[in-house]
Amino acid sequence: MIKVQLTGAEETLLATLYGRALDARSEHPILGDTLADDTVRRIDYDFSQLHLTPGDAAGVALRAHQLDSWTQQFITDNPNAVVLHLGCGLDTRVHRLAPPPTVEWWDVDQADVIDLRTRLYPARPGYHTVGASVTDETWLADVPSGRPTMVVAEGLLMYLTEQDGKHLITRLLDHFRAGGRLAFDAYSPLGIRLQGLNRAVRASGATLHWGITSAAELADFDPRLRVLDEVKAFDIPGRDQLPAPYRAATTALAHVPGVNRMAQLHLLAFTPHGPAPA
Ligand SMILES: C[S@@+](CC[C@H](N)C(=O)[O-])C[C@H]1O[C@@H](n2cnc3c(N)ncnc32)[C@H](O)[C@@H]1O
Repeated sequence: MIKVQLTGAEETLLATLYGRALDARSEHPILGDTLADDTVRRIDYDFSQLHLTPGDAAGVALRAHQLDSWTQQFITDNPNAVVLHLGCGLDTRVHRLAPPPTVEWWDVDQADVIDLRTRLYPARPGYHTVGASVTDETWLADVPSGRPTMVVAEGLLMYLTEQDGKHLITRLLDHFRAGGRLAFDAYSPLGIRLQGLNRAVRASGATLHWGITSAAELADFDPRLRVLDEVKAFDIPGRDQLPAPYRAATTALAHVPGVNRMAQLHLLAFTPHGPAPA
């Protein structure tokens, strides 16, 4: 067993990992992430204190499934892609999608999280890790900049301030010259105000900061971004696979203006540009 002592935003990765593990153990898994389940069984941590419900687990699995599907599509279209997975936590996305070695996959999270990942998961061809804050200015220079790039950030941007989040996006768009896609989930300002209802956030003592109402806000902020798709969490594809009481609740909430935008998933394209002038 590996003893894990994480706090704050880092500790929340255990809730999402556990959600995917519970989904894998369920009678009708959505994501079927058996590696997440194996990993939970190797970690010395009281997962029961998170009080995750079957609905929470299915919600985490649906979100991951949507982001997997956008990422897989990009890899299929661009077999020489770079995938930059920000705030990866202990997510097994690279193992679920198992990209060919022609894809360079970069998992980024805080140093102690990456240290834990390295102890739990095997290496893969084309796989790299960065142990640093995403807001750290130095690590991006190591990531190849001239290949089509898929940036995925799941359960991350809400932990950043708006200023840090926007600065990160600007740095990413400046760096990746061949263009690509950005996929992420977000809470609206209302979702941020209601963060006390989020069991995992409450249990870890983490604080959520950045609320985004629609991806158009980001496209307005940087014209290199173009919105391709948007999914409201209460209306997410596969919602019919939720356990019955949760399905009924999400159907009702999906019709309440404001509440129905509390959590969303976004896919944006960013345009290619030439090398930086000398
Ligand atoms: C809710 S967890 C999500 C983890 C993973 N994406 C998943 O879905 O299981 C939030 C993750 O964001 C990471 N995180 C938060 N702020 C960060 C920062 N400034 N730099 C790097 N990682 C950060 C945490 O360490 C944690 O792994």
